[in-house]
Amino acid sequence: MQSIRGTKDILPQEIASWHAIENIIRSLTSQYGYQEIRTPIMEYAEVFKRSVGEETDIVGKEMYTFPDRGGDDITLRPEATASVVRAAIQHNLTAQQQIARLYYVGPFFRYERPQKGRQRQFHQFGSELMGSATPEADIEILSLAYDFVKTLGIKSHELNINTLATPTVRTQFKARLVEYFSSFQAELSEDSKNRLTTNPLRILDSKNPADKALCEQAPTLIEMLDSESKDHFDAVISMLDGLSIPYTLNPRLVRGLDYYSHTVFEITSTSLGSQDALGGGGRYDYLFEHFGGKHTPCIGFGFGMERLLLARSADQNIEQLPSSDVYVIGFETSESHNAVIGFAHELRTKLGKTVITDVQQRSLKSQMKEADKIGVKHVIIIGPDEARSTTCIVKHLETGNQYTKQRSDMEGLFTE
Ligand code: HAM
Repeated sequence: MQSIRGTKDILPQEIASWHAIENIIRSLTSQYGYQEIRTPIMEYAEVFKRSVGEETDIVGKEMYTFPDRGGDDITLRPEATASVVRAAIQHNLTAQQQIARLYYVGPFFRYERPQKGRQRQFHQFGSELMGSATPEADIEILSLAYDFVKTLGIKSHELNINTLATPTVRTQFKARLVEYFSSFQAELSEDSKNRLTTNPLRILDSKNPADKALCEQAPTLIEMLDSESKDHFDAVISMLDGLSIPYTLNPRLVRGLDYYSHTVFEITSTSLGSQDALGGGGRYDYLFEHFGGKHTPCIGFGFGMERLLLARSADQNIEQLPSSDVYVIGFETSESHNAVIGFAHELRTKLGKTVITDVQQRSLKSQMKEADKIGVKHVIIIGPDEARSTTCIVKHLETGNQYTKQRSDMEGLFTE
């Protein structure tokens, strides 16, 4: 039996790197005043169809959707923003002009062709700031994303930013794009030909060389901005300058989900190969209305955890597992084994030590060998003789020093 294609077991020797990132996520989000939200992994398919967009690759080709035994169409979540908006409306998280600052970490599912940095089950860390349309909100989210990548120590990263303006401007822009690309229909890739009628913006994002060449001369949205869109974007850019956050203006950045307007961004890394987006996000001011809620402007981002780990290990050595403090050894008699169990428990609960004991009834010699291999600092031996008395032998593995102590003298155990 093998794991499903595109899914991965995260093994004990990899988990330290996951914990390190998760710890950074928890401390950074709390510095920004964000609280964790955990939504179900399954939602009604409608949640994503209605928000991410019927014509996107995610909804059209990549969702794991199936009828459950009651006949409802259920989807394994391909992203979190739709679920978080659904939950925010359902539980009134933004009632009375309240701001909601939320984050999440968890698994997501997309039926994509697996390759380096692309899986069918992957993990995201994301944040959503709900209830504000101001450029200050954009900057809070952008600087959280930027601080995050910096704190992880990923050096080779670039923040790309663009605006998708208001829905009205975007509609006009789409019409201009269709007009432009229609005169080159024969040169367009098959995918882009289809997008001409379904989702023309996505042509700008095509990786196909012929499409890319045509995109060079394509009209850009930046030339068509109305004053609302321009003022908002200019304010965001000047605040980025004020915070000395480096960025690249990228007029071809359109994102793969339909709910965006105004600011959109992606953080890429040169150490990732073709799947180079560490994370992305943007403003989604109209999603609440799509779900029947009241107008609530929002902005957020999602980072791919696997890609963060790849970029991080490309840039630096990942940390080793922290070693255990103590190995408590017993051997030969049940008295000795019982004393070990009780004493290990006391060391954990009273001194907060990380303690390992043998569970295979091995010899003193093989337990000493294992303690050495794990790299513990101290070994405590409660052999048959010690078990009959109130003592134990403490051995400091680095110096080789060994001394006898009273077991009741917990505090003094590790001082010679
Ligand atoms: P997204 O760009 O679709 O945005 O995904 C965000 C990140 O998830 C990507 O940049 C990538 O690192 C990672 N990712 C996506 N698909 C895969 C995959 N198949 N394998 C590995 N990693 C993957 C969103 O999902 C939006 N919900 C972000 C957002 C939040 N926008 C506003 N708020």
